[in-house]
Order: sequence, then structure tokens, then C-alpha cells
Amino acid sequence: MLSNAENETLCRVGPGTPMGAVFRRFWHPVCLSEQIARPDCDPVRVEILGERLVAFRDTAGKVGLLEEGCPHRGVSLALGRNEDNGLRCLYHGWKFATDGTILDMPNCPDLRLARNIKAKTYPIREGGGFLWAYLGPADRMPPFPKWRFLEIPVDHMRVNRIDADVNYMQQLEGGADTSHVGILHSNFARPGWMTGSFNANTDQDNPAALATGDLAPTLAVEDTPFGFHYAAIRQVEGNEADGKRNVRVVPIVMPSTRIIPSPAVQFIIFEVPMNDTRTATFAASYRLDGAPVDQWKLNEMSGRHNPALFDEATHRYIGTWENRFGQDRGRMSEDWSGIKGVVMEDMAMAMSQGAIADRSKEHLVPADQAVVRCRRQLLESARRVAEGGDPIGVEVDVSTIRAIDATVPGNVRWQDLVTA
Ligand code: FES
Ligand SMILES: [Fe+2]
Repeated sequence: MLSNAENETLCRVGPGTPMGAVFRRFWHPVCLSEQIARPDCDPVRVEILGERLVAFRDTAGKVGLLEEGCPHRGVSLALGRNEDNGLRCLYHGWKFATDGTILDMPNCPDLRLARNIKAKTYPIREGGGFLWAYLGPADRMPPFPKWRFLEIPVDHMRVNRIDADVNYMQQLEGGADTSHVGILHSNFARPGWMTGSFNANTDQDNPAALATGDLAPTLAVEDTPFGFHYAAIRQVEGNEADGKRNVRVVPIVMPSTRIIPSPAVQFIIFEVPMNDTRTATFAASYRLDGAPVDQWKLNEMSGRHNPALFDEATHRYIGTWENRFGQDRGRMSEDWSGIKGVVMEDMAMAMSQGAIADRSKEHLVPADQAVVRCRRQLLESARRVAEGGDPIGVEVDVSTIRAIDATVPGNVRWQDLVTA
């Protein structure tokens, strides 16, 4: 449970807010490389931490991230012409380079004026199929994070985004909440649920497939330099004698990233607040054996193939109460949620909590420990940053962080499974 004041601190991320200051100390994905794939292609509107920006790729292939409003009189540069190494405002033709310099000012021939004006820009980098931005103070810019997936060919990965009208914390808490996996995702986690028997889903790609029917996993939570690990330890039926158990270890990387494992695939998920009530979830998935992931299968598993819930062109989740988040109650005798796809099930839960969940009314149980740790670390970071210090997890080496889903003998320490 949180007080209303703590919840406000946790959830508000705009300029000048304590949590906004925490998020501004990290690099975040802001759009997919494929959204601005070619030189001189259409510019893309970017919203992050309550700021409206525009990303574009110039004729030479260089990317820029400008404030969306033109410095002349505020017209959106996303409507502009992207040509000859610059983005030109449609209204009076001012033209900007990727670094914000004014290249042309047709309605003001006195170019001395142009030298004194610059479009506001933010540092932008490309890697792993994403464009990443840093919105914080220049003297506090951390090194670009070396995620392991940046080394993997993009065509071997699945890189995607889904935007939803919900606060980032609900999305992040869903990822830190292991006890829902065996219940909300019953169809994937324990396909025999309707007969009361446990049939393991043997799909090695599926992050919601549990190797065990234990619905009350033992949870261990341990702080790390990047945030914390939580381990969910589940008893494996028939293995009581040798103590074999299923171990799922998930790293929560501050401020809002996690790695969800399936036995074969790592899903790195970034919850990027667009504003207080809208979140872009970026994901990069790759196989541990180096083979390309099966895009089609992962899409179907997640439920993104359903045009009633996901608009491929705009990357938007479009489930609402009007379409009941895709729930078909007629199918609930053999389908636990009546909602198709793991991600769509998660989305319905987060959306149904409201745009910003009221955490003053909850009743938490031990299974919520990782959710609580998430909030505590973020609030601690907000306190540290407000006092001029550094947030938890800034400038850590992320290259060795990994998640695991494995069935191991009882004498194996879970911590040893995730140290490189
Ligand atoms: S508003 Fe952009 S050039 Fe005038
Ligand atoms: Fe889930």
C-alpha cells in the first residue's frame, strides 16, 4: 500500500517532477529504427516523459531528435518536409539540421538572426533496432548502455513496441509479479487447468509456460547494483525426493526494464513513460542458442496478431471497455481469461486498474514482494536525485545481466544461475 502522495511521486514523470528527474538520468528507447527506416523518410512524433519531440533521418542517414514545436511559432515539425539534409517546417520554411542548427529561413533573409536561434534537440543513438534518447542534464549523461542484444543481428531478433493508455508503473509491476503467471496465463502456464490436472506446456519459447503447477512459488528478492533480482522457486511434482525445482530469475533493471525468460528466449522489456497516463513498451527478444527467433509464433503467443486489440500501423493497443479488452466470456469454460495472447491478457489487467492505479486501497501479500521492491527502489532514487545524488542503477554495466527459467537440482543456488 502507498499513500496518495507516494503514488503521485511514483507515477508522475513530466518535466520538474521527482520521478521525471530519475528517468531523465537514463537512456531510453523512444522509437523503433524501422519507424524511420530510410534517409528522408517521414518524420515520427515521439512522446517521452511528457515532452513532445520529433525524430527524423536526414539524407545522409543521420538521425535527429528535435522538440516538436518549431522555434519560430510552434507549428509541429512532424508535418514538415524532410529533404536535402534537414527538416523544413511547412509553415514559413525554416529548415533544421539534426543538431538543431538553422540551415534556411526564407521569411527572414537576415541570417544573423538564424545564428542566434537553434531548435532544441536531445542526444539520440541507434542500436538493437531502437532509437534511444537521453533527456537529462548534459553533465550527468551516462555512457550508452551495452545491452547484450545490441550485438545480435536485428534480423535474428524480434523488436517491437506497443503503446497503451496506462501509467508505466502498472506495466512494470506486471513484470515484477510472478504469481499471476500461473493464474492469469493459465492457458499457457498449465494447459490442463480445466480438468484440475497439470500438463506442462513444453514450448521452450513461451515465457508463460511453467514447468510446474505450483501456484504459490517461494519468492526471493535480492538487491543488485542495477536494481534487483527476484527468483520464483516452484516445486516440481514427482521430484520431491531429489529436490529438483523450477527456478525463474528475473532481473528488474532500474528504472523500468526487466528481462523475462523462457527456457530458450530472453525478452528484454523497456517500459518507457510517454506521459503520466501513456506508456510505450519496447521489447527485444532473442534466442540463447543464437538462432533467429520465430517472429510469427511469438506474435501469435502475445496476441499482437489480433487487429481488434493491436493496430500494427500505429503500434497502439486498442483494447478498451467498449470492446471488453477482447474478452469472449462464452469461451471461458475452456479458456481461463477469454482473452487471446499473453500480452493481451496483461494489457487488460493493467488497463482495468485505471489510467493511474490507486495504490492506497490495495492489500498486498508476500507474493507481491517484488512489486514492493520496485516501488521502494524508485522512490529511493527519487529521494537521492532530489538531494543531488544518483539514482539506483545509473552507469552500471548491463551487458552481463540475464534471466533464467530452468529446472535444477535442489542444491543449486539460484544466484549462481545468473552470474555470467
Ligand atoms: S512556425 Fe515554423 S517556420 Fe514558422
Ligand atoms: Fe503476464
